[in-house]
Amino acid sequence: MKKNRVCEVLSIEKPIICGPMAWTSTAPLVAAVSNAGGIGILGVGFAPLEFVEEQIRETKKLTDKPFGINVIMIPDFTLLDKITKVVADEQPAVVYADTLLDLDEKLSKTYFEKWHKLGSKIIVKASTIKDAVVADQAGADIIIVKGWEGGGHVSYETTMVLTPQAADLIKAPLVASGGIADGRGMAAAIALGAEAVEMGTAFLAAKETAVHSNVKQAVVMAQDMDSIITGSSTDEPCRQLKNTLSDALLKIEAEYTKAEAAELLRPVAESSLKKAMAEGDMENGAVMAGQIAPLIKQIRPAAEIIDSILKECKEILKNIQQFSFN
Ligand SMILES: Cc1cc2nc3c(=O)[nH]c(=O)nc-3n(C[C@H](O)[C@H](O)[C@H](O)COP(=O)(O)O)c2cc1C
Repeated sequence: MKKNRVCEVLSIEKPIICGPMAWTSTAPLVAAVSNAGGIGILGVGFAPLEFVEEQIRETKKLTDKPFGINVIMIPDFTLLDKITKVVADEQPAVVYADTLLDLDEKLSKTYFEKWHKLGSKIIVKASTIKDAVVADQAGADIIIVKGWEGGGHVSYETTMVLTPQAADLIKAPLVASGGIADGRGMAAAIALGAEAVEMGTAFLAAKETAVHSNVKQAVVMAQDMDSIITGSSTDEPCRQLKNTLSDALLKIEAEYTKAEAAELLRPVAESSLKKAMAEGDMENGAVMAGQIAPLIKQIRPAAEIIDSILKECKEILKNIQQFSFN
């Protein structure tokens, strides 16, 4: 049987990644996913360094399995150098680079080399094919393509179209992300050329996730058409559930020029994720969740989420041979 390269590279048993989620994928969820055989990524991209270090230490208390931290891959050398010191001190198994848009190949090569030398594997999340190719050339160990179905910051292309294009072009093992929450989604991702899946929204409703219970209820109750993208006009598209905040953000985008809107959105959006995730404010907080939320019907342990998806995926892949074209 062909070996799963994602599992091999990351030294994990099950090809499922819990994506980094600010204010959401903290130590309890990350450890639960890693203990269940997948890999969890701490959502600490914009967090103060003390918080990053504290979260790594907390996670290590809860698991001895591999886990990762996320880094925003922008040319902010002070930030990247500080993170490099954390990588040297704490030696996380994985450094997970968020690319936003237009990944810089020289910058990536420089830091990937440093993090590799310190013993970490590099996962890159790309939202365009160009960035996926740059990440591959810069030496990423694993590349994720994330479609616009997903929760949080997104691109403009779907997982369905990004995955096969990336599969045709990159050498590194490929992971599909965005709009996957069950075995059917995972089987589709594999058919498109991925070797693993990343999920965020599905883990929002995990038992171990340390967010306000209102958020988990909102995910479980969500229907199709409940999520919306804000920030398209200012090039910061972000998928969240519709509420008073998203109405206010879209109103600003409709009424002002791009530059004006960018200025006005900042204070309205500031701390909005924390307001939802930590305080449970479902109206004025950014309830980031993806289009797949309606498939999530219950709050259950991360291990159960992972195992049920793998079981269903395996059954589908087995039974699909009976599909007839005649
Ligand atoms: C609440 C929430 C917060 C997120 N925060 C981040 C983040 O800080 N950095 C990041 O790279 N991705 C972030 N994401 C995206 C996830 O890592 C993942 O790529 C995405 O959720 C996958 O799509 P899905 O929601 O359809 O499963 C976030 C997603 C959610 C739902």
